[in-house]
Amino acid sequence: MVKVKVFDSSAARSSKRIVDPAPVTDAKAFYDVVESRRSTRIYADVPVPEDVVRRAMDAALKSPNSSNLQAWEIHWVRTPEKKALLAAHCLGQPAATTAQELFVFVARPDLWRRNNNRMIAHLRSSPGTPEKAFQYFEKITKIVYNQGPLGVFRPFKWIWFTVRGWSKPTPREPIALAHMDIWAHKTTALACQTFMLAARAEGFDSCPMEGLDSHRVKKLLGLPRRAGITMAISMGKRAEGGIFGPRFRFPSDDFIFEH
Ligand SMILES: Cc1cc2nc3c(=O)[nH]c(=O)nc-3n(C[C@H](O)[C@H](O)[C@H](O)COP(=O)(O)O)c2cc1C
Repeated sequence: MVKVKVFDSSAARSSKRIVDPAPVTDAKAFYDVVESRRSTRIYADVPVPEDVVRRAMDAALKSPNSSNLQAWEIHWVRTPEKKALLAAHCLGQPAATTAQELFVFVARPDLWRRNNNRMIAHLRSSPGTPEKAFQYFEKITKIVYNQGPLGVFRPFKWIWFTVRGWSKPTPREPIALAHMDIWAHKTTALACQTFMLAARAEGFDSCPMEGLDSHRVKKLLGLPRRAGITMAISMGKRAEGGIFGPRFRFPSDDFIFEH
């Protein structure tokens, strides 16, 4: 029989944690941003102020991310030569060629250990860090994310997790380099969405693009083999006719399930 450990919420509530009350927020402002964000295929000839871009990038890096290991990078491609090349590598689509600004969001599963070490150093320099937080980054992440050279730990981890899973809830992934790619892309995709919503909140528009030649884009940015292109994102102000038709979604009943 599977043992299920019940979480003791009263103990958690009484533990000494930082008091960080939730501020009042403007729900309407948020939904206005969500409703008005559209993938923009043709941009007007209106520059995006640098501070707008920087705020949007800062917001993106505040996105939730797995284990706070921040396995993402934002590459802001600024020089005219590189921008032209990137637009060409985005298959010459107008969302790229007419863009005022171009970015590439990159997943870095290969940097988990570097960032884990940085996290440990950060915790060491933060007084009052609970022992459990150290344990997480000193032990757990090293078991969870280490796949061995070329992913050779996979069969061992599979056996271990499968056998453990017979008796108790057990994480099944990541147990392969491909799972690490998914892990980093999930985190990076959340940063992409925050970035696009931030652009809209600032009065600008964006388009996510996976229609690109990832091999050439990686070469252009000087990225290593294990880095992955999550997507390119263009930014600017939508031109008249720059949105190709009204937004369409299938009925939400087909996608929302209640259990
Ligand atoms: C991962 C991803 C990749 C996408 N790639 C492209 C692309 O290469 N070119 C493009 O014009 N739109 C691209 N889109 C935009 C989608 O076509 C668009 O989000 C969808 O049609 C819904 O429209 P909306 O964003 O205006 O709501 C992409 C979107 C996502 C999330």
